[in-house]
Amino acid sequence: MPSLGLNGRLIPVILGALAIGGTARSGDIEAEPINYAKAPVDNAVSRLEQRLAAGKATLTHEPGFGYLRSLLRELNVPQSSQMLVFSKTSLQRHRIAPTRPRAVYFGDDVYVGFCQRGDVVEVTAIDPGLGAVFYTLDQKSPDKPRFTRQTDTCTICHGSSANQGLPGNLVRSVYPDGDGLPILSAGSHRIDHTSPLEQRWGGWYVTGTSGKQKHLGNLTLQGNPDPNRIDNAKGTNVTDLSDRCKTSGYLTPHSDIVALMVLEHQAEMHNLIGRATLLTRLALYEEASINKALDRPADYRSDTTLSRIKSAGEPLVKYMLFSGEARLTERVRGTSDFAKEFNKRGPRDRRDRSLHDLDLDHRLFVHPCSYLIYSQAFDAMPTPMKEYVYRRLWEVLSGQDTSEDFRHLTAADRRAILEILRETKSNLPDSWRADTH
Ligand code: HEC
Repeated sequence: MPSLGLNGRLIPVILGALAIGGTARSGDIEAEPINYAKAPVDNAVSRLEQRLAAGKATLTHEPGFGYLRSLLRELNVPQSSQMLVFSKTSLQRHRIAPTRPRAVYFGDDVYVGFCQRGDVVEVTAIDPGLGAVFYTLDQKSPDKPRFTRQTDTCTICHGSSANQGLPGNLVRSVYPDGDGLPILSAGSHRIDHTSPLEQRWGGWYVTGTSGKQKHLGNLTLQGNPDPNRIDNAKGTNVTDLSDRCKTSGYLTPHSDIVALMVLEHQAEMHNLIGRATLLTRLALYEEASINKALDRPADYRSDTTLSRIKSAGEPLVKYMLFSGEARLTERVRGTSDFAKEFNKRGPRDRRDRSLHDLDLDHRLFVHPCSYLIYSQAFDAMPTPMKEYVYRRLWEVLSGQDTSEDFRHLTAADRRAILEILRETKSNLPDSWRADTH
């Protein structure tokens, strides 16, 4: 593989300080039944590789962007999802600076990272059996597009302890200095849709408006800043980045605030689905051998297994129903076509409602149930995990479970989500269909 310019000394320092190193569980996934690095894959990139090999797709290399534009097209990733991150926190950090940010794009099942003059395009594909699977696409081979499946090169950071050492997406907010290096003494935040806006987007450019709601985007700092005393008036409600970086070096001039918020929801949702998949596969595999040793029926479920399923499944249920979501106190609006295009993506019910409908005045979505329920990765979760998730979703949506975790869902919210799912989601349990009101 091409040289990635990894700085061996800096990585452990940065990772240690950001607490994103540590592969606590990765040993488990390299053995049966997962064999993460060697198992056959079936994801957006492996399918593109097959189409390329069969001559059914082509990738075109162009000056400045290499394969980026045609890669996004072939992976069905909208250019409007572009976000720009200027902190030196990822693989090709020597290519990244506030004047030359890295661009990140995403679609429903794939994430793409691009650095100007980068050696590779970085791609994360969500694989139904394995969770996040990593690839590089060699930018220095203009005649023949070449993907390489990557493991340790990426999992050194993407096998984060925040994700229990399992391969996954990473979204962070740091306190960057003028060169884009994170100021480690100030700390950093792991970001998902529960993170308060005022913690978000440190190290990222953000285009869009959020009124008086503060955030850390578009900001560089000096010395030893006190995170509690940061004034980012100049970095909020920014709609044009041209005085901060040369936007002509990117496919669009945007780093859309709505794209960022949807990414933050989706990246963690994919992590939770991947985690639920891998941990259930491990639990079922271990149980099968114990059942055999103890002469129990093959489908016997011990309390240990049930509690392993619950402990990976319950966080997924809570997250997919937006428990603990950061509330918006004012409207948020982006600058690109992202919101418009995203709204069009999902299936709609007869009343024209969709899980893709963005709210952006009070919360992210009008109907707070993750659209990733339609994804292949969700449907491919092992059966006992899916049964757990569907049972819990039913308890909440039917109004039986009104516990604190789900208080944010009104009776009308629950009914609307249920009605939308009944009309638009395939493979729902039969019990969901039988009961009509
Ligand atoms: C030095 C740590 C590090 C390494 C090594 C690394 N990444 Fe990342 N990656 C990050 C961080 C941190 C982010 C969050 C955005 C940012 O700060 O740039 C990220 C974000 C991404 C994203 C956007 C989706 C997401 O997870 O937020 C993709 C795609 C990605 N990385 C792919 C890769 C691939 C492929 C590899 C291996 C070839 C890799 N990365 C190696 C740290 C790393």
